[in-house]
Amino acid sequence: MRPDAPQPIRLADYTPPAWRAETVRLVFDLAPRGAKVHAKIRFIRGEGPEGPLRLDGQKLMLMAAKLDGRDVFHDVALDADGLTLAGPLPDAFDLETTVEIDPEANTELEGLYLSNGIYCTQCEAEGFRKITYFPDRPDVMATYSVRIEAPASTPVLLSNGEPGEAGALPDGRLFAEWHDPWPKPSYLFALVAGNLVAHRDRFTTASGRAVDLGIWVRPGDESRCEYAMDALKRSMRWDEEAYGREYDLSVFNIVAVDDFNMGAMENKGLNIFNSKYVLASPETAGDRDYELIEGIIAHEYFHNWTGNRITCRDWFQLCLKEGLTVFRDQQFSADMRSEPVKRIDDVKMLRARQFREDAGPLAHPVRPEQFIEINNFYTATVYEKGAELIRMLHLMVGPKAYRQALDLYFERHDGQACTIEQWLDVFQTVTNRDLTQFKLWYSQAGTPRVTVSEGWKPGKYTLTLRQDVPSTPGAPSKKPMAIPVAFGLLGQGGRELVEPGVLELTEPEQTWTFDLDERPVPSLLRGFSAPVILDRRSTAAERAFLLAHDSDPFNRWEAARAMALEALMGAEPVAPFAEALRLAIADADLDPAFRALLLTLPGDDELARETWARGRQADPDAIHAASETAKAALAEALEPELRALYTAMESPGPYSPDAAAAGRRALRNACLGLLSRRPVGPSLAEAQAKAPSMSERLPALAALLHAGAPAAEPALAAFAEEWKADPLVMDKWYLLQATTPREGTLARVKTLSEDPSFAWKTPNRFRSLVAAFSTNHFCFHAADGSGYRFLADWLLKLDPLNPQTAARVAGAFETWRRYDDARQSLIRAELERIARAPALSRDLTEIVTRMLG
Ligand code: ARG
Ligand code: ZN
Repeated sequence: MRPDAPQPIRLADYTPPAWRAETVRLVFDLAPRGAKVHAKIRFIRGEGPEGPLRLDGQKLMLMAAKLDGRDVFHDVALDADGLTLAGPLPDAFDLETTVEIDPEANTELEGLYLSNGIYCTQCEAEGFRKITYFPDRPDVMATYSVRIEAPASTPVLLSNGEPGEAGALPDGRLFAEWHDPWPKPSYLFALVAGNLVAHRDRFTTASGRAVDLGIWVRPGDESRCEYAMDALKRSMRWDEEAYGREYDLSVFNIVAVDDFNMGAMENKGLNIFNSKYVLASPETAGDRDYELIEGIIAHEYFHNWTGNRITCRDWFQLCLKEGLTVFRDQQFSADMRSEPVKRIDDVKMLRARQFREDAGPLAHPVRPEQFIEINNFYTATVYEKGAELIRMLHLMVGPKAYRQALDLYFERHDGQACTIEQWLDVFQTVTNRDLTQFKLWYSQAGTPRVTVSEGWKPGKYTLTLRQDVPSTPGAPSKKPMAIPVAFGLLGQGGRELVEPGVLELTEPEQTWTFDLDERPVPSLLRGFSAPVILDRRSTAAERAFLLAHDSDPFNRWEAARAMALEALMGAEPVAPFAEALRLAIADADLDPAFRALLLTLPGDDELARETWARGRQADPDAIHAASETAKAALAEALEPELRALYTAMESPGPYSPDAAAAGRRALRNACLGLLSRRPVGPSLAEAQAKAPSMSERLPALAALLHAGAPAAEPALAAFAEEWKADPLVMDKWYLLQATTPREGTLARVKTLSEDPSFAWKTPNRFRSLVAAFSTNHFCFHAADGSGYRFLADWLLKLDPLNPQTAARVAGAFETWRRYDDARQSLIRAELERIARAPALSRDLTEIVTRMLG
């Protein structure tokens, strides 16, 4: 640790604020440099221990300060993180400050910044302090009124809440007023000013309130907002129907910006989005983009109640809003599309990102107990595992009690900044269940392992479940958790021998006994009822049986995945898996999207995780070779079926983004992926690469690149020529190349990254090349360490400009202990090189330090 190392903030140290802000009046005079922010804030004493007024503020130039109209400029003490105004202070007063800030110099994309000529803000978690002096913590909730003055070149002026007066000033500049009647924490403040056009629509709420909807984009992009608008209206209706939650303002605006560290942000009445999650047309966006747009539009909209009306007391409670809102957007997408397919997709993601995090040096509880930089905790654990905890509650109490608990939550806590304790208490009140043990899910990191053993003597079947919660950094010993295991017992032909139900595992080990006439095959953890690793030694025959007969679609897929893992790791022959797949993919009763999932085989990263979980060091070259061999054998065995399906799934009409059409395309593309390993592959791909929709073109290009087909290069060049002016499409072009698992990829990626046209300061572009390369398991883990060096070089280059994104991308190294000693020491050397860099950001320092552990 360096002598100046920042000290962690701890949950245990929480105290209520000494001063609360009640009303905030902000006047912005916008300019790229020296923008002026005038703030008038009404302060009243809070419940916290008495003390001076302490306000957060960073990179602000204080120009004036007045208390109840009296000049206090010389009374305030300034430091790098804020200002202090010593007493004696009245119990209530107005503080006025004027500061200057430089949006143009803001490369961190936190606070007020310029993106492609658009002024925009990102305040969550602690960005508001880069706009004005304020108690920048979520338990300080105030009403805001805002006036924006800006040059005529940025005519659209937006902020939170309801619009007020707007017009031109005598000098030709423009102004607009906004008032947000709902008290909110500072992280939900937003402002946008730019030359924007709106795609407009209207929504009438269940109680008859008319809401003007606007999606604001750069001129030329307005035709690509239709799907996002449709998703917004469906989200608004769904929240009324599923949760009884109505929208509460007369306007709802969304703005798309090109430079954004994350996906999107739920600012009250003014959501700001990464343009990637708004803009779509059949020619420019793929099915997966449409799906993400739908899900993220819903997510941010749902925050209006779970996040905004009820917010978090402090940042340790982040999962209170994020876990719940992710769960809600998952429910929404399941309702809009296919429930089992959505569940399988979510579990794949959970395992790929959260299980990986939980098993490595960055593991932390869903509610962390300390942090150095809160931006480092917007993680798969807080979000996705957080959502799994809500899903378990939903399963354990049932949908009716769940809804009652949520109703009570909104009734009790509307307008408050809350904790996990308050969240769990509504469930305790409604159901009378003691959730003390369940609460461990919020404080114990690590993925529990549930080991299954069975006993059978004619007439009696016993099922024993044992749980182990692994140690994680700083938390060596764990208590047993409450784990709901949804199950069924299957007899011949797949008949359910008992009423399917849920076993609640609460002890280190428990046994259940069933009186049965035949020995069942158990189907356990149906629907992935808990975020655990299920360890059951099963035979290939049992897996094939479950794939063919389980009434739970998740476990059908799970059986196929288990077979795939064995085959790809070379532990079992390919043939039985190929036979089971042959039957399943030809089953016309199965949803094409589901069959596509069966055909999408585990990637190298998953195989490496699995190898390590089985107690062996992972060798990326060996993993790649074995899995490529198995995939080729599978493609060979299934070629006739794959070709037939490929033809059968051809789209009959023009592109439509709906789930059914997307499912057919997914199945067709999964067939193509395997067929690219056959001689016929390149010609199929070459033909498909000429299709009009991105959903067809991109997988075709990927297949060509993967096969190393001669047609790949001209196709890539033609693609770039066609789309060079469209950054979102070009991101796909970079990503395709960066993720191709072939020798020579790093050289290509380096060439691309050294080209002056590589706009690396835009996070989307950085991610599409550098971060994407780090997910290319085979190339990133090249034995000579060249992939590691490449990533470390780029992190060091990005960190001074955008520490938040640098720290996030650095997570690529979190799996380093999985690999052989030689690779471990290469990665360690890179991490140490990063750690030694002068003036490394707090963000990257924290991540690298934790990874080096
Ligand atoms: N609350 C946003 C969302 O999940 C994410 C904002 C994260 N921003 C950040 N700088 N950490 O919808
Ligand atoms: Zn969120």
